[in-house]
Amino acid sequence: MANPSLLILAGDGIGPEVMAEVKKIIGWMGAKRGVTFDVTEDLVGGCAYDKHGVPLHDDTMAKAQEVDAVLLGAVGGPQYDTLDFSVKPERGLLRLRKEMDLFSNLRPAQCFDALADFSSLKKDVVAGLDIVIVRELTSGVYFGEPRGIFVEGNERVGINTQRYTESEIARVARSAFELARKRANKVCSMEKANVMESGILWRDVVQEIHDKEYPDVQLSHMYADNGAMQLVRWPKQFDVIVTDNLFGDVLSDCAAMLTGSLGMLPSASLGAPMANGRPKALYEPVHGSAPDIAGTGKANPIACILSFAMALRYSFDMGEDATRIEKAVEQVLADGLRTADLMGPQDGTPISTTQMGDAIVAALDASL
Ligand code: NAI
Ligand code: MG
Repeated sequence: MANPSLLILAGDGIGPEVMAEVKKIIGWMGAKRGVTFDVTEDLVGGCAYDKHGVPLHDDTMAKAQEVDAVLLGAVGGPQYDTLDFSVKPERGLLRLRKEMDLFSNLRPAQCFDALADFSSLKKDVVAGLDIVIVRELTSGVYFGEPRGIFVEGNERVGINTQRYTESEIARVARSAFELARKRANKVCSMEKANVMESGILWRDVVQEIHDKEYPDVQLSHMYADNGAMQLVRWPKQFDVIVTDNLFGDVLSDCAAMLTGSLGMLPSASLGAPMANGRPKALYEPVHGSAPDIAGTGKANPIACILSFAMALRYSFDMGEDATRIEKAVEQVLADGLRTADLMGPQDGTPISTTQMGDAIVAALDASL
């Protein structure tokens, strides 16, 4: 069988710095686990603009469509702020998401015990937390027509339209149910069916897909505003949350902060299955290019490393190795190793990006 293939797009700022640590783990997988990835590297974002005048070259787009999974670092930086909107670094990322049709965005919120004190919530509320928010990513109010700012009478009116088709709801619901089956088998769907027709349809379709295809999964429904309250009150009641694009944007950022630092948060964006049965997939840390610390060796590589672990789990059916990486991360944190973002000013000396990567590789070695 062909080797699993990966396209690495490290991007700008700290993107290449954190990706360098992921490459150590890819190397470790080859040397110690006998899994060799066919890795291609290319440019996205500002660095692609510098070379090609566009933030994503057509050849790179074509490669992204061919590989089993894309791993992305981060894009952007202040030197690109004045560029025309059409060639801004972020457009490269948006083009990937759109043309790969990545409709299901998985944002885990996992709290490692060693960092529970770092959360803004009480330790028992977050210690051991492990939930995933599945956000619909390609439709809803960010895309619906009509949209725009119009003049009506003697004033302006701003319009966006929440619009969901049955099939758009069904496919993201399926991806949440599939995910739940690999986890605690529980899905909570969030909308505002009390005040929005699109929410009524959302609730009905999620229930129908459940009853027909996933009756074994425990399903509940919640209004999204209550969902926000429940997330900060007792987040451990959830396993998988599925919601629309707008509510998902807000709820996933809220859930993310339960766990502490931006430097710890991975994500996956999945599309329809390809011919080989694997979903189209892009994995990336939630954080950006962090120009304020780029080049200083301060970046925390864990978000990017955990994104690679998600790739192992969701694209390559290597859940055991994904867990091994997560456990290695847990181990180095339990040993007290911290990059600067994971400590307060009085907490001692932080370690560097490369030291964190090396420590995780050492913990992986120790796990064999
Ligand atoms: P950011 O996520 O880059 O940084 C926010 C803050 O968190 C900064 O203080 C940064 O130093 C810190 N931080 C982020 N990641 C970290 C890590 N791994 N380790 C330690 N500290 C970390 O967001 P910001 O500053 O709003 O945006 C900077 C640039 O990144 C902009 O050009 C923005 O457009 C772009 N961006 C790109 C994203 C992407 O590629 N997906 C997402 C968000 C922003
Ligand atoms: Mg957001």
